[in-house]
Amino acid sequence: MRLFAAVPLPGAVREALAAAQAPLREAGWPVRWVAPESLHLTLRFFGEVEPGLAEPLGDALASAAAGTGPLPLSPLGIEAWPVGRRARLLWLALDPVPALELLVHRLESAVANLAVAPSEAAFRPHVTLGRLAHGERLPGDAAARVGRLAVPEAFLATEVVLYESRLQGGPPRYLARRSVTL
Ligand code: 2AM
Repeated sequence: MRLFAAVPLPGAVREALAAAQAPLREAGWPVRWVAPESLHLTLRFFGEVEPGLAEPLGDALASAAAGTGPLPLSPLGIEAWPVGRRARLLWLALDPVPALELLVHRLESAVANLAVAPSEAAFRPHVTLGRLAHGERLPGDAAARVGRLAVPEAFLATEVVLYESRLQGGPPRYLARRSVTL
């Protein structure tokens, strides 16, 4: 079972991002766009784990999130990442505010004794809007073009969720296995 912890986005933020995506979708870039209802901020990707780990991972998320309260999140801008011709993702970068960093840190401590793979990269808060198709590249003006898009206003995140990601050939389906109110 493939699991990850994430912050689902409020509807207004998803709508703002869907509006930002629209002209890019029409540009015909070799990008697999994330469906608006699936847009999220990943806190920790656990990868393939034993199904029996879903419950302890949900408990770990709940204990890490206890006392956090609603998280104020500030979008910084829409970017192609990594910068340059080898960009693989189009994402909304978010301000790495201390409360968010602390939540991720507490989650890492809470899962330390569970059989999950270590996290692969430093935490860089973002919402992935689209992924480059294998072996493809963005046109040279893509970074400038996404940089000009309107970004959503700052918002409050009020929930963290342990999701199961079901890969079924098409776009993945995300099923909430545990939801925790912030
Ligand atoms: P993303 O936030 O950059 O899109 C569900 O697949 C979520 O887990 C996605 O949001 C994705 O990252 C993240 N994810 C998927 N595979 C990953 C991997 N191998 N390492 C880190 N994060 C991954």
